[in-house]
Amino acid sequence: QVQPLVDRFGRVATDLRVSLTDRCNLRCTYCMPAEGLDWLPGDEQLTDDEVVRLIGVAVQRLGVREVRFTGGEPLVRRGLVDIVARTHALDPTVETSLTTNALGLARLAPALAEAGLDRVNVSLDTVRPDTFSAITRRDRFEDVVAGLAAADAAGLGPVKVNAVLLRGVNDDQAPELLGWCLERGYQLRFIEQMPLDAQHGWSREAMVTADEIFAALEQEFALTPAREPRGSAPAELFLVDGGPATVGVIASVTRPFCGDCDRVRLTADGQVRNCLFAREESDLRVAMRSGASDADLAERWLVAMAGKAPGHGIDDPTFLQPDRPMSAIGG
Ligand code: GTP
Ligand code: 5AD
Ligand code: SF4
Repeated sequence: QVQPLVDRFGRVATDLRVSLTDRCNLRCTYCMPAEGLDWLPGDEQLTDDEVVRLIGVAVQRLGVREVRFTGGEPLVRRGLVDIVARTHALDPTVETSLTTNALGLARLAPALAEAGLDRVNVSLDTVRPDTFSAITRRDRFEDVVAGLAAADAAGLGPVKVNAVLLRGVNDDQAPELLGWCLERGYQLRFIEQMPLDAQHGWSREAMVTADEIFAALEQEFALTPAREPRGSAPAELFLVDGGPATVGVIASVTRPFCGDCDRVRLTADGQVRNCLFAREESDLRVAMRSGASDADLAERWLVAMAGKAPGHGIDDPTFLQPDRPMSAIGG
């Protein structure tokens, strides 16, 4: 019998985002420092069996209907294909997806599709190789291009591309990026940068806003609101030059969508986070390793969810960035 993950504002979490590792093979300047971070010790990372067990609790007892694998970079997790296959086997009607930088996707896309993965979202902030290297501190632009093409060819679509614009770095490249994605049939979404970087360097002034992005795109494309109801999806969609292609803007900061949130997160070390910006976590790893039953784990998860805050509170004078950076939460 299913007990939904309801919070005290009546929101129901049906979308589980599972971080499989806090490690990454890029070093995007807006995410982590050049030297990387203090990665999770191996024994604190959930094993493949533990991850699948917790996903099973979420799907079979708590009504989760979508599972998205994130990181860090999920493709660096050795057991990824197996975890996807076992998640799919739990319930083939649950949608599975991956948010990735696409390094190595050229090789893995067919196996992921075979394992039952439905689709991928790829992070790509520029289509200029030199800007790519400046943002990611790695010279891997062509690998991403190959990864995107392979995902599309393997049927992991509709393939979406996520882009963050940085002032003075790539904020003049929005139309160019959109043109490139349109040519290839990828759905591009621009994301407002959130205060989740490891260096705590975010500022509202440096953030490129959804309105600025929209204005830049309108210089070269005609944008009209796409009619489909947005529901809990973070992206506002616009038809490009009358459609059918669309472009999205995820205005997490200037137009928060927390009131419609349907998400819950599991970190690579087995902590339930009821929000990206949560200040408290519920430790399912320790509970599980101390012998908790599936029913106990579900009960803990329900309690963790009930305490979800109404919103991220970025605009509150008392706002405090969470201790965990984005790379250790999952996008
Ligand atoms: P789709 O189901 O394909 O629409 O996926 P998605 O957009 O939910 O997932 P993705 O991992 O591609 O997320 C894109 C971006 O949306 C992330 O990088 C975040 O910046 C933002 N985002 C995702 N989830 C949340 C959330 O819960 N809260 C906020 N504020 N932003 C989020
Ligand atoms: N704000 C918004 N998006 C971010 N991403 C990484 N850090 C941030 C941030 N501070 C994006 C990445 C990727 C996704 C997982 O999250 O660019 O597309
Ligand atoms: Fe949901 Fe928190 Fe994201 Fe708002 S910030 S949409 S409440 S996870």
